[in-house]
Amino acid sequence: MQDQKILEKYRNQAAMLSNRVVKRYRHLQKRFARQNIEVFRLYDWDIPEIRAAVDWYAGHLVIAEYTRMQSTPEWLPMMGEAVSGAMNVPLENVHLKERRLGSQEGKRYERLDYTDQKFIVSERDLKFYINPNDYVDTGLFSDHRNTRKMVREISENRDFLNLYCYTGSFSCYAAKGGARRTVSVDRSETAIAWARENMTLNGMGEETNILVHASAFDFLHKAKKENQKFDLAVVDPPSFSKTRATKDDFDIVKDHPRLLRSVADQMRKDSWIFFSTNHQEFHPAMDAIGFSEVKEITSDTIPEDYISKRRTIHRCWKIRV
Ligand SMILES: C[S@@+](CC[C@H](N)C(=O)[O-])C[C@H]1O[C@@H](n2cnc3c(N)ncnc32)[C@H](O)[C@@H]1O
Repeated sequence: MQDQKILEKYRNQAAMLSNRVVKRYRHLQKRFARQNIEVFRLYDWDIPEIRAAVDWYAGHLVIAEYTRMQSTPEWLPMMGEAVSGAMNVPLENVHLKERRLGSQEGKRYERLDYTDQKFIVSERDLKFYINPNDYVDTGLFSDHRNTRKMVREISENRDFLNLYCYTGSFSCYAAKGGARRTVSVDRSETAIAWARENMTLNGMGEETNILVHASAFDFLHKAKKENQKFDLAVVDPPSFSKTRATKDDFDIVKDHPRLLRSVADQMRKDSWIFFSTNHQEFHPAMDAIGFSEVKEITSDTIPEDYISKRRTIHRCWKIRV
């Protein structure tokens, strides 16, 4: 009896979620198609009892449940089946995963599966590889698509640094915008290999688009010694980063002034830094660094499909050095 009740509740939730997703898709699809944007968000915990995010990836759906203790294992597959039917997307193109919140977020870079399935999506005139199954994140942070456009618009003839580059999407945009050189740094070998694939996919050569497998502070230390200079940078660190040597542990709230100061040391006069975080209780402490201008541009960088009453998906600052 109890089980029947639970399943009935899940069926109602599945119907509500499907309705919402279909409605949202109809609302967003045309305008994104006009811009050739194939990845966008359809649902983000808009209904309090339905704790999930649903993203569109060029005919695929990624449905992530924000993990909670009270849901039983049937919940996510039931949501997946209902949304698949309502959206007419075959079940094999519906990818289900769990997303941990809060203090467990540090585990987001762990591998979930070994399917190695990848497909290509377009974002404007660029293309990116998506892996929908194997990690919590799929390879493209779609909430930063407007930031990427802003970076591209001012990248001509600049030396561009992409610190914490992940799969290199910002670097592809900068290269497309005419950057003289891009340098992309990440301490994950998987991310660097993926960034290389994205560069190749977009026809960008390795002589001027350099990929560095290193920890951010190690890179900055070496860049200082070698007097490497940049005119444009994206700094988008994780909220926390643990290293084997605990002296290099990084906590964005506490350590962002130290990080930004080290980046600033490698920037030429009149250059720009885009700094971003998705930490939900972040307080900027940049006054003492001596930047000539610090402007929060979050309202311009969050696209309409990511505007949510529940939380701010990211915050972003444009800094003039
Ligand atoms: C939030 S993601 C960056 C997203 C990227 N800016 C984008 O838009 O695609 C954080 C990245 O930082 C990398 N990372 C974590 N700790 C690091 C460290 N100490 N040094 C360099 N990279 C690190 C992770 O491997 C991950 O790729």
